Amino acid sequence: MVYPIYLIGYMGAGKTTVGRMLAEKLGWHFVDLDDAFHEIHGLSPADYIRTYGVGEFRRKEKYVLEDLAELPIEKVIYATGGGYPCWEDNMECLKELGTSFYLRWQPHHLAQRLALTNLKERPLLHGKDAAEILDVIRPQLEARVPYYEQADYIIDAPTAIDGTIDITADEQLADILYNRIINDDD
Ligand code: S3P
Repeated sequence: MVYPIYLIGYMGAGKTTVGRMLAEKLGWHFVDLDDAFHEIHGLSPADYIRTYGVGEFRRKEKYVLEDLAELPIEKVIYATGGGYPCWEDNMECLKELGTSFYLRWQPHHLAQRLALTNLKERPLLHGKDAAEILDVIRPQLEARVPYYEQADYIIDAPTAIDGTIDITADEQLADILYNRIINDDD
């Protein structure tokens, strides 16, 4: 397996939470690319998009990831921004730079998870319940899935027996990824 590891997926997929847990289990570094963007450009991705527009954000976001990839540290887990893989040749870049894992969830589960988060940083979703969030995210998610599915590995989030969200899903995802990484003999 080629390092570093990039976690990709839609907002609410747990890229940051799972990435942190995974890095801790492996004893590796963890970098949240939204946080790195904020540090480098002085604005959170949401504020940057509000101020300069999404096109300018995507151009800068691309360079943040590619610049960090030049650091001579391989044992890093990166949580990418949800839209990163779906811009220009970004998915190809990820695949050249390291190994990508898509954290795949059913859309209604993503909506439920997002409804439980602080939505102030997500203006399009702010004030909406899970059903309304689902209406907003479904078309964007459908457009993004073909990019996400180019990941080297697709990991389905575990569900509870009754089909609802398993409350330990993030921990389980971190365990699944951990086993994939340490058992890989490439
Ligand atoms: C975005 C997701 C955000 C952040 C930005 C744009 C998107 O990251 O990069 O607000 O277009 O899906 P998370 O997926 O980490 O929330």
